[in-house]
Amino acid sequence: MAEQGRAIERLVIFGATGDLAERMLLPSLYFLDADRLLPDGLTIIGSARAPLDRKSFAERVRTALKRRPEGLDEDVWKRFEARLDYSPADVTRGEGMQSLKERLAGASTVFYLALSPSLYGSVCRALDECGLACGDCRIVLEKPIGHDLASSRAINAEVGQVFEEWRIFRVDHYLGKETVQNLLALRFANTLFEPLWNNLAIDHVQITVAETDGVGERWPYYDEYGALRDMVQNHMLQLLCLVAMEPPPDAGADSVRDEKVKVLKSLTSFTHASAQQHSVRGQYRAGVVDGKQAPSYAEERGGESETETFVALRAEISNWRWAGVPFFLRTGKRLPERRTQIVIQFKTLPHFIFGDQAADDVLANRLVIDLQPDEDISLLLMNRRPGLTGTRLQALPLSLSLADGGRRRVAYERLLLDVLADNPSLFVRRDEVELAWAWIDGIADAWKELSLTPKPYAAGSWGPAGAFALIERSGRAWLDE
Ligand code: BG6
Repeated sequence: MAEQGRAIERLVIFGATGDLAERMLLPSLYFLDADRLLPDGLTIIGSARAPLDRKSFAERVRTALKRRPEGLDEDVWKRFEARLDYSPADVTRGEGMQSLKERLAGASTVFYLALSPSLYGSVCRALDECGLACGDCRIVLEKPIGHDLASSRAINAEVGQVFEEWRIFRVDHYLGKETVQNLLALRFANTLFEPLWNNLAIDHVQITVAETDGVGERWPYYDEYGALRDMVQNHMLQLLCLVAMEPPPDAGADSVRDEKVKVLKSLTSFTHASAQQHSVRGQYRAGVVDGKQAPSYAEERGGESETETFVALRAEISNWRWAGVPFFLRTGKRLPERRTQIVIQFKTLPHFIFGDQAADDVLANRLVIDLQPDEDISLLLMNRRPGLTGTRLQALPLSLSLADGGRRRVAYERLLLDVLADNPSLFVRRDEVELAWAWIDGIADAWKELSLTPKPYAAGSWGPAGAFALIERSGRAWLDE
């Protein structure tokens, strides 16, 4: 096929009629086209089992775009529609690959697998058998890659037999979020934080990914994975790595990924004792979220199950920088608000000089990085309350609000653009995925061996009581206001 460095001419989306493609990938491509960021000669070929033709596929895409709050611009749509094509295929049986081959005709191609990871191996084999995997074409894989370390290794090995690592782009869509990328700028484009970014100045770190939505119709997938594998193994560990990693020598893909790998290697493994003390599983019961009645997970699923929809963990990183600094991670469905937030909590003052009254006012400094729903970075600083009588203090945030009034980009826009530009910086390398699984397996195995089943929590609450106890045992509290 094409030589390395040639512009991508075809983007094939397998699973093009699925939820991910219709909700995220095709709208992101449309927005990129609206901003004239797609290469001129790029054709987007949808592929799925559905026996559609080009016209009916384009009609589906148009309907999906019209459902979005941004609305549809007819001029952009005309341009975008001209790029769309469709080629029916059953990737599990290798059927339809021949007609896809005719459409590709030697073009430089990216294959995006918006499919269940259990199909990755067979798709790669089918592409290989009909001669489509050759040259410099790339493949994009969605999470979760596997269900544990063994299955992840098996999938990576199957894909690796056909595609070399440099041609594999593993997506973690959190890495495409603006504030996540900004975390690197904050840490490595300022001199201010680096001398304080360690166990001498930082008391602990909190990472919260709270969602108000329930699992709903995704339960067949979710029930097999649960919050630990669906959220912690990938998105939350990526956030933890970006907070905890050492400064890389440059911002190149492998330099950053090498540092993330070192963090993953330094995570303290869970034992039976630490799983009991430092992990909490929960599952939502019926309750009220956003003023509306919400059903229990068991009702949505149509029966009881032991899958967790909430996890809280106290993680530790065994290295010089972070020894003794707990990282509290918490994620769940049907929580009271949608919030993705990283809190860097600095230590309390070593000595206080402003008298008893003002002592009650003091809060330790904290850096709060909000990813969702608002994008903001704020540093909480103490200062004096204006006035002539006595000294009182107040905490005020120094805020770097990132909202510029413009449309907020879908994380996939950045990632798709990077795939087309052959830039792997924001994608996950094989060793990262496997190290993350190894750590997660330690927790999942301990839960299984100890029969730690999920504790109930009411939809609309911040999880089971144990999640509060987990952090309070160390004299700290979740930042929930
Ligand atoms: C996905 C998970 O990877 O991330 C979902 O499978 C979760 O369960 C979603 O809802 C959250 O993403 P975001 O961008 O809405 O925070």
